[in-house]
Amino acid sequence: MKLGTVISLISSPNSWKFSSVINDDALGKVRKGQFVEVEHEGGKLIASIGDIFRSNRYFERAESVAGYERSGALSSHFPVDEWSYTIAETRILGVYDGNALHRCSFPPPPGSDVRQVDEQMLSKYLGFRETGLNIGKLLNHDVDVKLGLSKLFQKHVAILAMSGAGKSYLMGVLLEELAARSPEHGRVGVVVIDVHGEYAALKSGPLADKVSVYDASKIRIGTKNATPDLFPFYYSLSPPQRRMLASTFYELKRQAKAQHKFFTPKDLMLDLGSVNDKGAAKPRDALLDHLDALQKMRVFGKVDDPSVASLVRPGHISVIDMRDIDGEKKKQMLVAYYARRLFNAVKKGRVPPFVLVVEEAHNFAGESVKREDMLSKHELERIAREGRKFGASLCLISQRPVRLSTTALSQCNTHIIMRVTNPYDIKHIGESSEGIDNYMLNSITTLKVGEALIVGEAVVQPIFVRVRKRNADVPTDNTDLESIARKYELEQARKKEDVDAFL
Ligand SMILES: Nc1ncnc2c1ncn2[C@@H]1O[C@H](COP(=O)(O)OP(=O)(O)OP(=O)(O)O)[C@@H](O)[C@H]1O
Ligand SMILES: [Mg+2]
Repeated sequence: MKLGTVISLISSPNSWKFSSVINDDALGKVRKGQFVEVEHEGGKLIASIGDIFRSNRYFERAESVAGYERSGALSSHFPVDEWSYTIAETRILGVYDGNALHRCSFPPPPGSDVRQVDEQMLSKYLGFRETGLNIGKLLNHDVDVKLGLSKLFQKHVAILAMSGAGKSYLMGVLLEELAARSPEHGRVGVVVIDVHGEYAALKSGPLADKVSVYDASKIRIGTKNATPDLFPFYYSLSPPQRRMLASTFYELKRQAKAQHKFFTPKDLMLDLGSVNDKGAAKPRDALLDHLDALQKMRVFGKVDDPSVASLVRPGHISVIDMRDIDGEKKKQMLVAYYARRLFNAVKKGRVPPFVLVVEEAHNFAGESVKREDMLSKHELERIAREGRKFGASLCLISQRPVRLSTTALSQCNTHIIMRVTNPYDIKHIGESSEGIDNYMLNSITTLKVGEALIVGEAVVQPIFVRVRKRNADVPTDNTDLESIARKYELEQARKKEDVDAFL
């Protein structure tokens, strides 16, 4: 269908943009962000509408509009409707010859027809493939967005948006797609760091047999696999304290190995207690306090539970449910430990390729200068830098992009951006996402819940997507204040009834 006609302006059409006047009968069919095509030498010119303007000469002068409107509507005196027109400013993406997209080196002539794009061609041009991960529909088009597994997860992904924009929902869609893959198409293991216990519900849905949920408060780290630099307090120690801790730790580890036993921070405390630190009691006492706190975390055991091999299985999703852990330090230590173990295991070929999904990633890989606050940052950044070669991929989810580690974010080659309104976050996204222009940046504030902008390696060019519905009914997140308040009162009333009945 014809939508409009290329017009001649002083600076366009040129090889990268043109403007067109839109036909009246196509007005309802033209939207910002939509793809269009123009017949061009050597193929079809593909372009996307950047912005749309409407104009009408009758309404240009404020004082005459005001005057006429006072004495009845302007439209009752003049044929104003006939002078209204709509202009679409359009960015040329290239010329598609049926196989590949070539740079446009010569502008389309004014007067050319601007048409609705052939959606099959668009899907081919955008590189969507049958075996890809189907996350939804291209905005303004009936085209399934099917992202290639390698393109998306060969490197790393960041999902960035304000709270409630649909990040976790989208991750749920991606998990459904990853779990549904067949071995022939390539399957990866997925480990989800689930800070709020949002993904535990997967266990009761249709994916139940492909999901394991681990209660993080019951996780045990095998002391024989640990190293002192994974202790939350390690980076706040002085060099002599570190030396004291390391020598005691490794000696205890050696003894434990020889005797086929395991040891805990308490054993470390006992051994440290007998170290002669030449009367300088203070460094040792501080160390003992730290170890005491570590012992109280109750996180060390004989072996890793769960083991790395049971966490990462092809086509399987392992959720580490952290909702019952209060301390940030313990969460960080667990993430740091498993990130390191997973990466080392995949490097040695002991586990299949995996995607490590980190919710609230700014808490685990934050742009903080204080290293003791960011135990897990170091390990996640290592996967971000070196993971690609071994099939270790990160998916960082965050509502505060400004607080996310620049190193980690810059290694995320695909950014999926949903609604963001905070100006600092928008500025940061503009600076850290490659290929994002001002028009797209402005659109981010107007995205609806469940709509996303994808930029980077996974797509040929930035696209807007409406994320599809989940296959399973997901419990809606009843976290609005009214629901919480209602639930509280209902529970109080129920408790009172129980007490009354008992009495
Ligand atoms: N594509 C979608 N289709 C239908 N509903 C959606 C979609 N995306 C999100 N929602 C709804 O919006 C609500 C918020 O989504 P979600 O929990 O994914 O937000 P979030 O970005 O993860 O927020 P937070 O940062 O607070 O974790 C959910 O209740 C979900 O049901
Ligand atoms: Mg969420």
